[in-house]
Amino acid sequence: MGCLQLHRKQPMLHDKSYIIRRAYMLNDPVLLNDWHVVAYAPDLQEGKPVPVRLLEEDIVLWRAGDTIHAWRDLCVHRGTRLSLGKVENQTLICPYHGWTYNEEGQCIRFPAHPAQKPPITARAKVYRVQEKYDWVWVCLGEPTQDIPTFPQWDDPSFYKVHCGPYHFNASGPRAIENFLDVTHFPFVHQGYLGDPSHPEVNDYEAEISPEGVIARDINIWQPDPDGSGHGANVTYTYTVVRPLTAYFVKESAGPKFAMYFTVTPVAERSSIAWTYVAKDYENIPDEETRRFEDMITWQDVPIVESQRPELLPLDLQAELHLRSDRTAIAYRKWLREVGLTFGTAWKLVYEQGRGPINRRWAR
Ligand code: FES
Ligand code: CO
Repeated sequence: MGCLQLHRKQPMLHDKSYIIRRAYMLNDPVLLNDWHVVAYAPDLQEGKPVPVRLLEEDIVLWRAGDTIHAWRDLCVHRGTRLSLGKVENQTLICPYHGWTYNEEGQCIRFPAHPAQKPPITARAKVYRVQEKYDWVWVCLGEPTQDIPTFPQWDDPSFYKVHCGPYHFNASGPRAIENFLDVTHFPFVHQGYLGDPSHPEVNDYEAEISPEGVIARDINIWQPDPDGSGHGANVTYTYTVVRPLTAYFVKESAGPKFAMYFTVTPVAERSSIAWTYVAKDYENIPDEETRRFEDMITWQDVPIVESQRPELLPLDLQAELHLRSDRTAIAYRKWLREVGLTFGTAWKLVYEQGRGPINRRWAR
């Protein structure tokens, strides 16, 4: 991915550990080869290019009819942002000197030299893009899997409400781990998702498989599990399907409430969470569901942004864990297995090599 380095800040040469760390970040195939949400598709209007950012890469999204394009947000002439340009006749026109790019990313017109055919090298960097669940998903590399499944999406018994997006000045894995954590409910979401006089959690199991993590039968009391104001004993099942995508289903005596949560790694310490609530009942207007989820997430944001280290430690010795943290423990172990480096903290180890002691990063 040498081309990615075009946009990156130069490392400080006096800081060798910084250089080692950057080298890992530039080469995180797990996230580079995965799909990430970058926009809510209905927000992307014909004729209006939109700048987004993913894995420290600036991307321009633009729509031509039903087709959505995701390119590096950079004109190859003088590096101007293409997202400042305009869309005309299925082409994207650079705002600076009017170079005109067709839907394949090929420049087809130099306005200063109308008779000159642009060479093949005059083309934008084009990324893979798909529209699914009304979201625009982009993969910067070679996708190894399809977009993760949202089990309730095609189930008509579930009513879906799009909530967010929510920005966290925090790493993606920190945001996901907070989504998986039920023992904070009585304290961070007191009166809604938890009650400080009933903070106990049962002993539950969390399993790791090659496909991810699943934690079942987590029982807790909630004063207001769905924004309707009625308390209930609920049982959660959490499934983590990708390093930055997870969902839960919670059940009380009858109704089921699910939430799908996928995080865009904008940068190592900057993330955007995209969510859907899915319910097999309709109790309150969509706007009220959104207000409720906004309030809950804004309670989480300052907590997650305060966590140190900012990058999620995959060394299990780095923080203390309780039995009720089994989901988080399984998540960290699984991230270590899949080899996630972006947004995670590694341990600096010293080993005796030939000559001086060598330093290397270990998870
Ligand atoms: Fe885009 Fe010159 S910088 S046309
Ligand atoms: Co929370």
